[in-house]
Amino acid sequence: MSLVQARKITVVGAGYVGSTAAQLAASKDLAEEVVLIDVLEGRPQGIALDLNQCAAIEGFSARVVGTNDPAHTADSDVFIVTAGRPRKPGMSRSDLLEVNGRIVCDVAEYIARLSPEAIVIVVTNPLDSMVTLMRARLGFPARRVVGMAGVLDSARFCWFIAEATGASVVDVDAMVLGAHGDSMVPMPNYCTVNGVQLGDLVGPAEIDSMADRTRHGGAEIVGLLKTGSAWYAPAAASVAMAGSILRDQKRLLPSACLLNGEFGFEGLYMGVPAILGREGVERVVEVPLTMEARALMQKTAGAVAADVDAMRDLGLM
Ligand code: 2OP
Repeated sequence: MSLVQARKITVVGAGYVGSTAAQLAASKDLAEEVVLIDVLEGRPQGIALDLNQCAAIEGFSARVVGTNDPAHTADSDVFIVTAGRPRKPGMSRSDLLEVNGRIVCDVAEYIARLSPEAIVIVVTNPLDSMVTLMRARLGFPARRVVGMAGVLDSARFCWFIAEATGASVVDVDAMVLGAHGDSMVPMPNYCTVNGVQLGDLVGPAEIDSMADRTRHGGAEIVGLLKTGSAWYAPAAASVAMAGSILRDQKRLLPSACLLNGEFGFEGLYMGVPAILGREGVERVVEVPLTMEARALMQKTAGAVAADVDAMRDLGLM
């Protein structure tokens, strides 16, 4: 993938996350062409037309193509896969395993056939098992199949820290690792406000309560919306990852990556700090963990492994 050739990004799924991701990708001119594909007739075409009519106002040149035909996705450089059912109140992300697993299998079939060199960012839930399934179905090198969750979970933690400290969210850096579920691992030791350690700004009880709110950040929004789940921050997070890849920015972003011994795990997808560039996952950065974080990473790995076993039982992989 050279930096000079025309770029094409395909967003799979024209629900709220997908259409917002397409809007952000187009308005940032992330690629010359932004393809939005969905099985629903008319919806991706309508959204594409609406977005193209924004171009004159917003001043972007990217062209949005809405389609139901996988042929239009051929030779995409990057995919953002959002297709799938969202949670309803009371559901866990794992409740979506079977229905969304079948959708991921269908999408993987045409990505492998029509865009064999693509880099694929999976957003569909349950995230860690869906990215595992996507990689298994595609057979691509692991560096080209990555999951979006850590950027979103860290951004939620950032917001809660900004609220609690009264500091601008722009100055907050936070990190959340592990699975995208209740077992995720917020890392207070790696949270700073313009270089100042979080622990120097607020007490342990407040940190625990923010970490806990982060763990349930998705469910809090599902509960408020009553139908569907969050879309603005998930879309922004996936577009940040796509931007780092397409523009070879090499940002260090927490991402669900296939681990090959890092953090003591082998053959498991999980949220870890990673450098994303034109090759996809260019490096997993193995940061030191406290004893407590290590124990939480073991627990979260167990949750991912249980979902992967359930997918095997369902015959998905
Ligand atoms: C969330 O946490 C969509 O799983 C996503 O909001």
